[in-house]
Amino acid sequence: MKVLVVGKGGREHALCWRLAQSPSVSELFCAEGNPGTAQIAATVPIAAGEIEGLRCFAQQERIDLCVVGPEQPLVDGIVDEFERYGLRIFGPSKAAATLEGSKSFARLVMRQAGVPMAEGESFDDSAAARDYVLARRTALVVKADGLAMGKGVAICEDREQALDAVARAMDEHRFGAAGSRLVIEERLKGEELSFFALCDGERALPLGIVQDHKAIYDGDHGPNTGGMGAYSPVPQFGRDLEDRVMREVINPTLAAMSERGTPFRGVLFAGLMVSGERLNVLEFNVRFGDPECESLMMRFEGDLAETLLQVAEGRLTERSFGISPRSAATVVLTSGGYPDKYRTGLPIRGLERIEGSDPSAAKVGWALKRVRLKIFHAGTALAGGQLLTAGGRVLAVTAGAAELHDAIATAYEAADMIEFEGKHLRRDIGRRALQCGVQPVTGAAHGS
Ligand code: AMP
Ligand code: GLY
Repeated sequence: MKVLVVGKGGREHALCWRLAQSPSVSELFCAEGNPGTAQIAATVPIAAGEIEGLRCFAQQERIDLCVVGPEQPLVDGIVDEFERYGLRIFGPSKAAATLEGSKSFARLVMRQAGVPMAEGESFDDSAAARDYVLARRTALVVKADGLAMGKGVAICEDREQALDAVARAMDEHRFGAAGSRLVIEERLKGEELSFFALCDGERALPLGIVQDHKAIYDGDHGPNTGGMGAYSPVPQFGRDLEDRVMREVINPTLAAMSERGTPFRGVLFAGLMVSGERLNVLEFNVRFGDPECESLMMRFEGDLAETLLQVAEGRLTERSFGISPRSAATVVLTSGGYPDKYRTGLPIRGLERIEGSDPSAAKVGWALKRVRLKIFHAGTALAGGQLLTAGGRVLAVTAGAAELHDAIATAYEAADMIEFEGKHLRRDIGRRALQCGVQPVTGAAHGS
């Protein structure tokens, strides 16, 4: 089949990489892609936001399946547009994507479905929001209701900060229309996990648990980023948690969406907070996470295109894929200064030592240990044959190995072979899992 991937980051490179290995894929396209995807997919110069343009391209090229990476086109209705023209596309309809596009809608569905979440309320009026803040005794989180490029959530230490956050969103309109409605929640403590399930409208199958590292510095210090690294499975949390999330979160949400007449098809990504026996959903996303997807794709077994087509056609079956019991780890290399201002256009060196044909000592070592390594491009550009930095997150170095500590060590070994001015990375990806000393459960057919 002819497959079109929409997006241009590390997540989309990972999807292309796995799709390129699918026996059912005859041709692969990526819009608008990056130098990494360009090695395995034809680059289509149409941005993810150009929904009509993408649909026209899919019609002209007779694309059999479109796979959408980022949330914005999903929330804007790319799936509805494709389906209106009889085109197959992996992702939720505009109505179902509201689970990510509106946090108050997500809370409404969770309430209806009995999904555990933080106590909280939604507000369209700043005076009422302020009164709520003043009446609360616990620490609060103030969230812009709509998509705000990851900047719409304020974790507040005290009432003053919460009142400031309300004013920024509702009086100063810092997040535009996304902040004209707010969700204010109790601040939860615990360990954050990303949970992924493929959903075909009626059925859901787990893809597994991944742990992201959102803060820019080691030890979860500094401002939040899109994600500095990930690993999967998360050995501290075994099959029990996976079963529980399917039972308490994914299946009821899927049933509630179906009951509303807006069945959810695609990948449902639940952001979880876990503390002891306490499990709560922080948010829903309606797409793969980045960098979670890079680690997940390292563990995915089967024909990804066929599996995603089954989801799109509402006929997902148990046998369509597996998740390897091996571990994966992703270390993200970022531009100095990110997530604030950073320079771009800086030469990147060292990839050829990792990906080139010469057998460097490191490569020989990885082959002996049966470790798999892949460098996914996130923010890179090519100019005159030279690879340059072109974004905040530059590369997502991903390794797969039988043991998590080998996957992590290999990702760092490769990350250290890559150089560009201002390169930054976290040194503690997966440290929590290594410190807990538990080895992952092996032999699972699905999920972690
Ligand atoms: P969201 O966009 O809802 O995922 O929020 C972004 C980040 O804010 C999450 O990844 C959490 O780190 C944090 N967060 C969101 N909601 C809460 C909450 N109720 N309590 C504590 N942290 C939260
Ligand atoms: N890594 C978190 C996200 O993709 O939203």
